[in-house]
Amino acid sequence: MTHATSAHETAPQTGGTDSSRTLYGGTGNRRITVRDIARAKQQGEKWPMLTAYDAMTASVFDESGIPVMLVGDSMGNCHLGYESTVPVTMDEITLLSAAVVRGTKRALIVGDLPFGSYQEGPVQALRSATRLVKEAGVGAVKLEGGERSAHQIELLVQSGIPVMAHVGLTPQSVNAYGGYPVQGRGEEAAQQLLRDAKAVQDAGAFAVVLELVPAELAAEVTRSLHIPTVGIGAGAECDAQVLVWTDMAGMTAGRVPRFVKQYAHLREVLGGAAKAFAEDVVGGAYPAEEHSFRT
Ligand code: KIV
Repeated sequence: MTHATSAHETAPQTGGTDSSRTLYGGTGNRRITVRDIARAKQQGEKWPMLTAYDAMTASVFDESGIPVMLVGDSMGNCHLGYESTVPVTMDEITLLSAAVVRGTKRALIVGDLPFGSYQEGPVQALRSATRLVKEAGVGAVKLEGGERSAHQIELLVQSGIPVMAHVGLTPQSVNAYGGYPVQGRGEEAAQQLLRDAKAVQDAGAFAVVLELVPAELAAEVTRSLHIPTVGIGAGAECDAQVLVWTDMAGMTAGRVPRFVKQYAHLREVLGGAAKAFAEDVVGGAYPAEEHSFRT
C-alpha cells in the first residue's frame, strides 16, 4: 500500500491544545498509542473513530487523519452479508484486521473480539486477543460487556494487551434483547450502566464505547470516568464518537439508525459508475482507442 501524503500533511490541526500532540492531525507519522488516547482525555480533545474492514478503505481514513479505527464485528452486517454480528468468527476478524493494519501507518487499530471468543472466561479471551495481536498486528482489542467482562479485561491488560470496552447496547446480545433497544433508561438501568462503565475502567480498559444510551446518562458516565468514552447513539458529551463507515459514507442500503449522519452518498456514486461502465460496454464506447494496445 503506497501513501502519497502523510496524515499530518493532509489532516487539519485542531485548536485549543498543543496541536503537534493532538490525535486528529497531530503526533507525526508514528502510530497512535493508548498513551496518546489518555492524553487526549486530559487535554479535553474530542476525537473520531471509524470502522474499517479492508486495506484500501482504511488507507483513505488513515490519510484523512482518523486516529483510531475499529475492525468491528459490524463487518458481519456491513461486509460479510450476515444478518447480525453473531456469526462472525475469529478467522474472519483476524484476516480483515491484518488487512486494515497493512493499509494504515498512523491509526491505532482496534480488533473486535467476536461472539463466542471470550465469553467462556479470561483464558479464552487471552487466547483470542493474543491471536489478533500476533497474527493481525492490532494495537488493541475490544470486547462487549461491563461487570460481566471485567475479569477478561483484567487478564488481557495484565498480559500487555490494551482493551477498549463496550457497554450500553452490546449487539452480540441481539438474540437476548430481541432487537436493538436503547439502554440505560430508568433509574435502575442507569445505575447498572454506571456500574458497568466503572467496572471496565477499574479492570484497566483504556476507553469504553457507549452504544445507544440516553445523552444525559452518557454525559454523566463521561464526567465520572478518567478513561475516554466513545459514543455511538450516546449524544454529544462523549469524549469520542464512532460510526460504522458504511453508514457514515452512505454505502448502507435502506434505512440507517437515527444517530447516523451520512457525510456522502457512496452507494449512489458507485452504482452510477457501475451503470456508466455497463452502458459503455453494451454500446461499444469502452474500451476506446486510448485503452487499447496495438502490435
Ligand atoms: O462492531 C462495531 O462496529 C462496533 C461499533 C459500532 C462500536 O462495535
